[in-house]
Amino acid sequence: MRAKAAGMHSKDCVKVAVRVRPFNKRERDAGSRCIVSMVTSSITIQDPRESQSRRSFCFDYAYWSHSGFTRDRGGLYVPEEPGGRYSDQDSVFQDLGEGVLENALQGYNATLLAYGQTGSGKSYSMVGYGPNKGLVPKLCDRLFQAIRENQDTRQCQVFFSMLEIYNEQVVDLLSRGSRTPGGLRVREEQQRGFYVEGLRTVPCDSAPQVEQLMEQGTRTRTTAATHMNANSSRSHMLIILQLKQIFSKESITKQSNINLVDLAGSERQRSSGSEADRLKEGTAINLSLTTLGNVISSLADVAVGKKVVHIPYRDSVLTKLLQSALGGNSRTVMIATLSPADICYEESLSTLRYAERAKRIQNRAVVNESPTERLVKELKAENARLLQRLSRLGQEGRRANDETKELRQLLTHNELQIRAIQTLWEQHLQEALKDWEQQYANITQERRMMQMHPYILNINEDTQLSGVVKLFIQEGEWDIGLCDSTPRYISIKGLGIQERHAVFRNEQRRVTLTPLAGSKVIVNGNSVSQTTELQHLDRLILGSNCTYLFIGFPSERGGDDWSRYDYDYFQSELAAAEGIHLGESSAGSSQTDPSLLAVFYDFIKLMPMVAEANQMSQELNKDVEFKLEIKNLALSDSKGHDLKKEIVIIVTAVGRKQVWMWSKTKFVNRKFLMEDAYQLHQAEKSRDNIAEGLSTAVLPRDKDPFWDPVEPLLLGSAHLWLQSLAFRIPLEEQLEVLGSEGTEEAILQAQLVPCTSTGLAQGEDDILIDPSELLGRRLDFQLVLEQCCGLRWIREARDRGVQIGFRLFDCSHPFYSPAVWHNVNPLLDHRVHFASLHTSQRLLDYLQSSAVVLELWGLQEGCTDLVSSLEGVRMTAEGIFIIEEAGPANPAPVDCSVRAQQDMEELKSVNSSLRKENHILREQLNAARNGGEGVRGRSVRPSCDAEFARSLKVFYHSMTSVRGQLQRLRRHRPSEDSDLLGFRLFVDEQSRLLRDFSEQLEQSVSTLKQDVAAIVRRKRERSGIWS
Ligand SMILES: Nc1ncnc2c1ncn2[C@@H]1O[C@H](COP(=O)(O)OP(=O)(O)OP(=O)(O)O)[C@@H](O)[C@H]1O
Ligand SMILES: [Mg+2]
Repeated sequence: MRAKAAGMHSKDCVKVAVRVRPFNKRERDAGSRCIVSMVTSSITIQDPRESQSRRSFCFDYAYWSHSGFTRDRGGLYVPEEPGGRYSDQDSVFQDLGEGVLENALQGYNATLLAYGQTGSGKSYSMVGYGPNKGLVPKLCDRLFQAIRENQDTRQCQVFFSMLEIYNEQVVDLLSRGSRTPGGLRVREEQQRGFYVEGLRTVPCDSAPQVEQLMEQGTRTRTTAATHMNANSSRSHMLIILQLKQIFSKESITKQSNINLVDLAGSERQRSSGSEADRLKEGTAINLSLTTLGNVISSLADVAVGKKVVHIPYRDSVLTKLLQSALGGNSRTVMIATLSPADICYEESLSTLRYAERAKRIQNRAVVNESPTERLVKELKAENARLLQRLSRLGQEGRRANDETKELRQLLTHNELQIRAIQTLWEQHLQEALKDWEQQYANITQERRMMQMHPYILNINEDTQLSGVVKLFIQEGEWDIGLCDSTPRYISIKGLGIQERHAVFRNEQRRVTLTPLAGSKVIVNGNSVSQTTELQHLDRLILGSNCTYLFIGFPSERGGDDWSRYDYDYFQSELAAAEGIHLGESSAGSSQTDPSLLAVFYDFIKLMPMVAEANQMSQELNKDVEFKLEIKNLALSDSKGHDLKKEIVIIVTAVGRKQVWMWSKTKFVNRKFLMEDAYQLHQAEKSRDNIAEGLSTAVLPRDKDPFWDPVEPLLLGSAHLWLQSLAFRIPLEEQLEVLGSEGTEEAILQAQLVPCTSTGLAQGEDDILIDPSELLGRRLDFQLVLEQCCGLRWIREARDRGVQIGFRLFDCSHPFYSPAVWHNVNPLLDHRVHFASLHTSQRLLDYLQSSAVVLELWGLQEGCTDLVSSLEGVRMTAEGIFIIEEAGPANPAPVDCSVRAQQDMEELKSVNSSLRKENHILREQLNAARNGGEGVRGRSVRPSCDAEFARSLKVFYHSMTSVRGQLQRLRRHRPSEDSDLLGFRLFVDEQSRLLRDFSEQLEQSVSTLKQDVAAIVRRKRERSGIWS
């Protein structure tokens, strides 16, 4: 579908298009739902959590590239049927590309920006993949075609530049020299505005030439990314095409700059999320993107007439370079790309909002006349004047005097200047062509090598950069590593790569790989230390995360599809080798728990990042180790539900024995800052040539991403079930405190003691048979934390302490026990008295179905204790915490008419049962008046009830231990490095636990049955005596 809005904006408003891509593999596996729909140029997005909540937006163009397509024989994605709704690359180009081209040919500056979250299809739209060429190559094709078609009327010159902005540094992607430390400078000139000083501009006169330059640029980007350990999705890629059209007849020159911008993933600007962190990364992660957002917002405000004092163009490199594109002299188009999946709702909505703001920006584009052409024009005019004077002088007969000599000299000088200006282009073009031919020869050579030798192919997280680098393994023995001095070497750079990392041997049509001492080599997910024979399409990971696909001898290749071996494939394989995988049956099935899938993908996304962080820490002498852990949120759920799981990163300062737990977001932010610190270190190292490891990229502590002040750490938790309180039965428990991976952290002795308002423990006579008797009445109880035993945390390092934290009912803040230090079995002796002044049904339900989660917090030397915040907590003068005030509260927000109806039904039924009861009571009263047995009959109740209460108490006691057993079973997992034997042992242990569990359960139920039967029997016997 290619839709164009009927009412377009005024000519110079930024035009905005949105495009929705197909589901990717992850989204398909997760059984994602498409939450985006399109009708002509309007797009609607639905909140997946609330089907009624929808938001609609209207743009200049909307492209549906989500479904209704097929792949033709040449690999092109085309609509399933002619005229189908699928928008292919061609149709996007026809609207957006043709417009840009037309503007450029008219002499306007033109800009095309792609904005969207990582993986949403920016590069697909801008650059394209394989045969599905994107806007840039198509635009170049058409540009040179137009130049050819118009060559009678004008002479055209095209200059091509390609740059990357990474971390506010400009990198020339076409530079032939080595990289300028700190990047190229952005300068400002009155006439030109902002420009990059020293950026290579290459004259081009054909589309293949441009394509090849783009390939060269992508290769530079790929190698730079691995060398510097830079994440490409954080960088912005800018292609600048300068088009100069010289209309000799009209004596005018039109000059236009075409900026083609593939922006960094939009989520990066907000990556610090809602999470508070000591280092305010959000602003540092991508200053350019944040500033772009601010500039767009300010300009959108200007457009609606708001007073805006300052537009912050100067705050970042990107906005400086795009100043003319935003609110200036340019015709600008933005393509906002979206994922249609429910899991991307937040990001997609934010992209749409962003695009909506951009739509309001108004530009003032004018046709540009080039200053050089003006000079030629002026020189020509001057020459014409000179010639006139000369001819006048000639007519006067003064042919050879000084004045005519001077005039002739001037004339020649001017002509030379004109020729110089006009021939410069020819010369440049010739030079560029030579360069191009050399590159072309290299490419031809590479293609020939691919047909002869096995090789390894780089695989990058950014699909756009995958398959760019090919390293050939010719016959014989080849060292691979940082080294480039040995005679037979394959030089690679990257995190964790050693001088001599491994050896490839290509002998007798077999290729083997031998890791050298101390180097990390992974083949198909498994770490190898011995010589390993490689098979076609084996996956190699060298160092911490340099990923390559091995392509075997041409005879082994066949027509297989290599595209499935993408970055995710490598990481999933690695995770599987570590015991984290989705079974064949679960991946791709719609029954897979989406939250489990999300954790799985988080895990494989974070795994390489953790490996890189560890490597950087090692190289920078930070003494910090990172480890991924899956945290089961059931551990902190008061109902013990097996809720979502979450990934956390355990950070350990090895020497100091300090531990932190970082959330995923915090780690991702810190990882970016670590990359920056690492790059700084690399730059310093290469400048000063300092000895390895000496510099630690000396950052002040408060700016160091590897460092954090020590803080309390949540070690694990235990559930103390509250059900017995609903019967006023005391409970004494030995609870197992379990860590997030099911490890036993400690045993905690705790009690729940129903008591009087003065704190006296209640006895068996106060036990209730029917908890509803509590309704509307006061309930007092004490939570007693007696002792912790076998604290693993303290056993590991004595200078540590612990505290217990817990939250009850509606209390918004947790309570903490006082800290105890240096003791593996500390006495806690902590008692808290709670009271409900008017027990409601809601509290009763809570008691019957929930547990108080007792959290074990680890304290480390230098960290401050956790203190209970008593904000909003009501307390009596005696220090009793009130968990529920007097009076029924909480009118549930239900539809009033439905509630009234329900109330009416309830009242009716209560009324009828009251009548029945009334009737029975009246009969009983009569009988009592007549006899007296009834009174005696009623006296049986208390003694039977007491017996019943006692058996209930026993039953609840046994049930808590059954529940504990069930929790243990739930968390019981095989250890991470289990082999087959390990799994067998695990299964044996699991069946033993299951057997114990069922025996305990049987036993408790049968005891209760027997007790109840005995009570009933006795009651019958007694009533038999009386009747
Ligand atoms: N319209 C589309 N049709 C088919 N496939 C698409 C489309 N858009 C994107 N894709 C696929 O989705 C994947 C991610 O797209 P792309 O590389 O363009 O993302 P990106 O937005 O550039 O991400 P990043 O910010 O990481 O660079 C690619 O494999 C690409 O082939
Ligand atoms: Mg991209």
